[in-house]
Amino acid sequence: MTAPFDFAPLLAPGTPAPAAKWNGHPKYNFIGGHVAPEHIPVQELIDAVTTALKREGTTLSMYGLNSGPLGYKPLRDFLVGKLKSHAGMNVTADNILITSGSLQGLDLVNNLLVGRGDTVLVEQETYGGTLTRLARFDAKIVGVALDEDGLRMDALKRTLDDLDKKGIKPKFIYTIPTVQNPTGSVMPEKRRAEFLKIARDAGVMIFEDECYSDLVWSLERPPSLYAMADGEGVIFIGSFSKSIAVALRVGYVVAKWDVMARILGLKQDAGSGALEQMMLAEYCSKHFASHVPKVAKELHGKLQTLRESLAEQFGTSAEFGDPPGGIFLWVKLPDNVDTVKLAQAANAAGISINPGPEWSTDKQFARSRLRLCFANPDHDTIRKGVAALAEVCRREFGVPLRSANIDKR
Ligand SMILES: Cc1ncc(COP(=O)(O)O)c(C=O)c1O
Repeated sequence: MTAPFDFAPLLAPGTPAPAAKWNGHPKYNFIGGHVAPEHIPVQELIDAVTTALKREGTTLSMYGLNSGPLGYKPLRDFLVGKLKSHAGMNVTADNILITSGSLQGLDLVNNLLVGRGDTVLVEQETYGGTLTRLARFDAKIVGVALDEDGLRMDALKRTLDDLDKKGIKPKFIYTIPTVQNPTGSVMPEKRRAEFLKIARDAGVMIFEDECYSDLVWSLERPPSLYAMADGEGVIFIGSFSKSIAVALRVGYVVAKWDVMARILGLKQDAGSGALEQMMLAEYCSKHFASHVPKVAKELHGKLQTLRESLAEQFGTSAEFGDPPGGIFLWVKLPDNVDTVKLAQAANAAGISINPGPEWSTDKQFARSRLRLCFANPDHDTIRKGVAALAEVCRREFGVPLRSANIDKR
């Protein structure tokens, strides 16, 4: 037997902790931002990729196909139209970079702007993937309070003023204004205008993440911040993950050309996967407009099932809103519940949840909160999963006392 080679001393500083081996999906999966298997348009995707390959499969011979480093041109052309009609954005295909998921977009923008020790503003409750990424840069992450309309402008102004007094200018304000993760809020247009003015006056860039903006129940949303600013001082990322399929790993960055040229310099992977881009361009030009409303309607139904199940199983022990879109619900449990511990106990029972502290800069505020993703499980699994979670919570923390109208004392 060859003796093991000890590579641990070679690790670069700041390398993340080793990953655990994957042991399969939990029975009740309320994490990870997965979408629903029944929403994947399998046959249409097969048709789309076949058509695209027959027509231009030989272009796979070149990095970047016939489209150059920004990504497959027909997909960018589709996005030009979609972003205009959906989010009011006036952009050309040269303002759009196709990425391997919007996570790559997040990485590229962070790499472009965040140096070690820089200050970055985020919404107090925000996407956990952003928090872990910024932490790797040793960034000083400052959370700004939210309300039911998203980022609070009084809190933003106060934070910027406080930082200014200390001579600190943040690199950007990372925001998810349209279906906020995890709270689900949509920032109204008036507040967006105020937001842009405050950021502009402070000379701070806005980093706008629109991962979920297609999934608004009413199918109407305010213009993006990027649209309202005509792209000045705003970098935008979006994704096909939640509207079509997460595992395709296709997202995009939208930026003015001067910013884009710099981002492009950092994207040194010789292009994102071509088949996915070709398939999506073909599929979306025909079906996106009819697919998304169907998905939104069914997700809205799952949200109602989740809300009903929580009300039934947790009674007044669970507080939550009625978000206007998205795939998750942000839930408050009684103060004595530590959701990090709850998540561990739930995991052992085959239930995955996102504990609040991983989704917030204020660990104490988020201690008794959690995020539940409802897109992937079917209605019955949602009901059973919530009942199982209530059972674990009662065992570990003594709440909820009542469940399904049965007193458990
Ligand atoms: C707010 C937000 N941004 C970005 C992402 C990354 O998405 P993807 O890389 O699949 O496009 C997620 C994933 O859940 C998210 O919630």
